[in-house]
Amino acid sequence: MKIPVGVLGATGTVGQRFVQLLAGHPWFDLVAVAASERSAGRSYREACAWKLDVPMPAAAGALVVQPAEPGLACEVVFSALDAAVAGPIEEAFAGAGYAVLSNARNHRMADDVPLLVPEVNPEHTALIETQRRRRGWRGFIATNPNCSTATLVLALAALERRFGLEAVMVTTLQAISGAGYPGLPSLDILGNVIPFIGGEEEKIERETGKILGRLAGAAVTPHPATVSATTTRVPVVDGHTASVSVKLGSDPGLEALAEAFRAYRGVPQERGLPSAPGHPTLLLEQEDRPQPRLDVNLEHGMASVVGRLRRCPLLGYKFVVLGHNTIRGAAGAAILNAELLRDQGLLRRA
Ligand SMILES: NC(=O)c1ccc[n+]([C@@H]2O[C@H](COP(=O)([O-])OP(=O)(O)OC[C@H]3O[C@@H](n4cnc5c(N)ncnc54)[C@H](OP(=O)(O)O)[C@@H]3O)[C@@H](O)[C@H]2O)c1
Repeated sequence: MKIPVGVLGATGTVGQRFVQLLAGHPWFDLVAVAASERSAGRSYREACAWKLDVPMPAAAGALVVQPAEPGLACEVVFSALDAAVAGPIEEAFAGAGYAVLSNARNHRMADDVPLLVPEVNPEHTALIETQRRRRGWRGFIATNPNCSTATLVLALAALERRFGLEAVMVTTLQAISGAGYPGLPSLDILGNVIPFIGGEEEKIERETGKILGRLAGAAVTPHPATVSATTTRVPVVDGHTASVSVKLGSDPGLEALAEAFRAYRGVPQERGLPSAPGHPTLLLEQEDRPQPRLDVNLEHGMASVVGRLRRCPLLGYKFVVLGHNTIRGAAGAAILNAELLRDQGLLRRA
């Protein structure tokens, strides 16, 4: 028996990715799509400006878009809502008994809300019990990180667990699809680099600490590593690249780092979760990789693709990391979170 699920914000960039990834999912059955009152009442096919390079799943196209309010005939909702409206809508669903798997930034840093990367911190789902008790909710909210943080933190975790981590300097080159649809005007982004993405640097710096942090009682103690981020928008359609320098707790040598990336596995791989990449930190050996156009879909867009591993004269080691911003950085991440929660027995409706 598949679990019936819905997507809030189903017409947007991330919402479309959810609809694509949920079609034919072995555990989840997409039965409801919801969006703003501009879209509600129309068929998904009419309401959605479908922008993916695969056809819209026929069953989803026939669904009628509903208002984003409790009453959807499902137990689990994936939220791809605009952050301007996500906060209270997600709370209303959690209060009404739904499991809410959110992409939006609104609740990520709340003490009682897990910010999950299943390979890195699956034990942080214990916060759900605290959240329910504290807020009196029958349902709950669990979140996935910001799109750049999602792939950065996988690579950092592969190193941190073996060698310790003291400092991170990261500069991102982020794709246009990260800004939603219609996104940036072409005259602003074509042939250009924009060295500012509002709020993004702070998200990377704070979310990384929470994800790598240790669960202590009813809260997470952030990891003490210092993270310094610069974020830029570049004329790439899909795939956020980042140049990363790290100061580790020891000096294990380049081959040990390479082996740490190659060997890194977590609960999703051990448990065989359907969306888990075989290699969560996939190390490429070629000197000019990873590249978004060539490598963003490796491991079905669910890996942190690492390359250009070398010594850094400032911090010790540096590398480049690439991740698919709407798959591992958004919809795919939330679906993997839902798979983890089901595997832990936490997806049942209260
Ligand atoms: N794009 C990425 O790579 C990425 C990565 C990680 C996280 N995120 C986060 O994911 C969320 C969605 O991002 P996006 O890029 O998909 O944005 P988007 O393309 O602008 O889509 C926004 C969605 O929210 C819906 N919406 C807007 N106002 C609403 C309202 N008042 N009530 C109900 N629904 C409403 C829209 O429905 P209508 O079509 O009816 O207006 C649309 O479905 C954001 O919180 C974003 O920060 C995005």
